[in-house]
Amino acid sequence: MTGLTRYPCNDALAQHLDDLPDLKTLFRQDPSRGERYSLDAAGLTLDYSKNHLNEQTLALFARLAEEAGLEGKIKAMFKGQPINHTEGRAVLHCALRGSVDSDVMVDGVKVSQEVSQTLAKMATFVDSLYQGRWLGFTGKAITDVVSIGIGGSFLGPKIVTEALKPFWQRKVAVHYVANIDGAALADKLAGLDPQTTLFITASKSFGTQETLSNSESARDWLKAAGASFEDLAKHFVAVTANVPKAEAFGIAAQNCFPMWDWVGGRYSLWSAIGLPIALAIGMANFEALLAGARDMDQHFVSAPISANMPALMALIGVSYINYQGASSHALLPYDHGLRALPGYVQQLDMESNGKGCHQDGSAISHLTGPVIWGAEGTNGQHAFHQLLHQGKQLIPADFILPLESHYKLGRHHAMLASNCFAQSQALMQGKTLAEAQGELRQAGLGEAEVAALAPHKVMPGNRPSNTLLMDKVTPQTLGALIALYEHKVLVQGLIWDLNSFDQWGVELGKVLGNAVLDKLEDQSQPLDLDSSTNGLIARFRQQQQK
Ligand code: F6P
Repeated sequence: MTGLTRYPCNDALAQHLDDLPDLKTLFRQDPSRGERYSLDAAGLTLDYSKNHLNEQTLALFARLAEEAGLEGKIKAMFKGQPINHTEGRAVLHCALRGSVDSDVMVDGVKVSQEVSQTLAKMATFVDSLYQGRWLGFTGKAITDVVSIGIGGSFLGPKIVTEALKPFWQRKVAVHYVANIDGAALADKLAGLDPQTTLFITASKSFGTQETLSNSESARDWLKAAGASFEDLAKHFVAVTANVPKAEAFGIAAQNCFPMWDWVGGRYSLWSAIGLPIALAIGMANFEALLAGARDMDQHFVSAPISANMPALMALIGVSYINYQGASSHALLPYDHGLRALPGYVQQLDMESNGKGCHQDGSAISHLTGPVIWGAEGTNGQHAFHQLLHQGKQLIPADFILPLESHYKLGRHHAMLASNCFAQSQALMQGKTLAEAQGELRQAGLGEAEVAALAPHKVMPGNRPSNTLLMDKVTPQTLGALIALYEHKVLVQGLIWDLNSFDQWGVELGKVLGNAVLDKLEDQSQPLDLDSSTNGLIARFRQQQQK
């Protein structure tokens, strides 16, 4: 493992991590370890004791943070400096939740003013739908809102809406469509009435193929039901930074909610991209979501590294990725409402830190963002936890559990929690050969059988995890949780000295996709690509001719 050779503390950190005893030993050496390495912030508790670290590790983490110039770089972000230098943009999603000085300006415009005006416009819109004042083309009140967007214009709103189901106001039903696969839109429209359905085209660029195509098909669906071009204004609003394109589509400027270059798509749920969230849970709850994120921002910018939740999670991650070769990280929410969280953090982390060059363009020689994956517990226990326990790769995991459920149903929540706690315990302690043999002997097996079976029952243990707790999933705690992951990703990107805020890697596929689409739809176009792609296109064409 090369580690992070650019930093003077690299060798000391590498040596120290190498010398650390295993987790069971660390717990034996310090009976108060669980308490010592737990931390409260913004309504969340992080137990990070089941990680390979001690006081010296924390001191080395603080050194690494200092050598990476973390403090100054974080301040630069909050001050609105154009830290997304490959796109020449500031990174101010924290301003959306009031965590940035009210006098910060971008392009001569006061950011805080833009934010409060947009929140007011959202509130008016939500109210008009809630009160049944927003009428469709036949004069009926809107009952269903379909948000059409993808990536950051979909994942954040979707996970928050799902997770906060107990807070739904149920004044209008909120739906999401993302995929270009016609099945997604067709499925959704099948259950809806064009006279009472409103669409939100959520696209920062207003140029994303999936979102535009789905919006066009939704427009056709309305027209087929008798809506005129003028009527469309009653059934479409947009959230976009590209109002001219929205207008060209047929969405009036006054029906456009603003987005700005200083908000990255994957950081945008706090903006008007969160409009479907506000419609689902109401404006007051949306404000509480922002407040929870703001609490985490305040903690993040003020706590020292050794007591800073996002920074610690980031540094612990770095220690596994760069010093022990972990290339994946599991997110295991023990909460049905949070089941989509791994998918959301997947974009947040992988689109931000899945990068191969430093800020100055030089190649990175070590691992960067890990593969983020996971699923709700306990489902995952019956699917992939086998590999977490006995597989050969190191996969650090975050267990996430609300201590109280919104659904009081017998012993369910205690059973859910017991599974969550026991999984991290099992990962940490494992089972030795002697223990496995002892169990088998006790079960009455003969020595030959014991010898044959015991190795299969050995669990190496020493597998690290964090456990994140909150009293309950509320707008406030969820806001804090999401902001926690945003800042964790930021800190890792800063340590790796890469730009976490661009996403050039997704562009080539889009460009090639357009060229392929031309060839799929126009048989006269030559098949002049590589032989594999030519073959696939030819096969598709054949099928269309049947
Ligand atoms: O293709 C990647 C991406 O640009 C994401 O970063 C973004 O969240 C998503 O597409 C959607 O973009 P837009 O909101 O502009 O439609």
